[in-house]
Amino acid sequence: MTSRAKRRSDQLFEQLETISLRAHDADTTDILVVHGQDVLNVPDSTHLPRMKKFRFQLLHQWLIHNFDPCRAADIGGGKGLLAHLLMESGWQATVIDPVPQGLPDKYKDLVLGRRVKIDPAARVPNLPSTFETYHAQYFDLLIGMHAHGSNVKIIDAAAEFGCGFVIFPCCVIDEAFYPPLGVSWLESLADYAVRQGIVLKPFRLNFKGQNIGLYALPRSI
Ligand SMILES: C[S@@+](CC[C@H](N)C(=O)[O-])C[C@H]1O[C@@H](n2cnc3c(N)ncnc32)[C@H](O)[C@@H]1O
Repeated sequence: MTSRAKRRSDQLFEQLETISLRAHDADTTDILVVHGQDVLNVPDSTHLPRMKKFRFQLLHQWLIHNFDPCRAADIGGGKGLLAHLLMESGWQATVIDPVPQGLPDKYKDLVLGRRVKIDPAARVPNLPSTFETYHAQYFDLLIGMHAHGSNVKIIDAAAEFGCGFVIFPCCVIDEAFYPPLGVSWLESLADYAVRQGIVLKPFRLNFKGQNIGLYALPRSI
């Protein structure tokens, strides 16, 4: 990342933290805890290796370090590698994606530091559909890694059903609203979520591309 791009990314991250503080200030009744930690202190990805790619592996590690196994929807999950990794870690995971795609045949395991083959017979549960808010009633955590057409719906679903979410928004495609001129998509989504009463926080993973995420914990935690 050039130093200019890094500065911009840092500024955006600070703006997101400021937006998220509005929700934390409003929400003093509900101290949210994951793995015994206050939500304000869920670790960033600094304990993870510095990788330029491997976003699914990095997000998988971040999730299993910060959340107990739960029912996760991998929305716009594409080939389903994240769902597969979560299932290997004892989670229940379902891909919701209108375009069914098979699992890759191998991936790099960052912990073991080697390539791992995926059994050709391996499958992840798959709902071949666009994501709709009512799907959320069956899940504890909604995950949208560069998902299309789903970020606003994920926030709406979290507000309605109390699920947590982890989103890495990238392009604005088929969404219910678009960011106003001069406002980034991430800020716009964070602001929208806070106005729905959601307590959220930004975090970063060390992969190349759109690597700033927003997360909110399930209300039941
Ligand atoms: C950019 S890809 C991201 C795939 C994967 N999560 C990744 O990070 O590589 C966007 C995915 O969103 C899916 N998608 C498009 N519209 C969707 C919708 N309304 N609901 C759920 N998934 C959708 C596409 O089929 C595609 O797999």
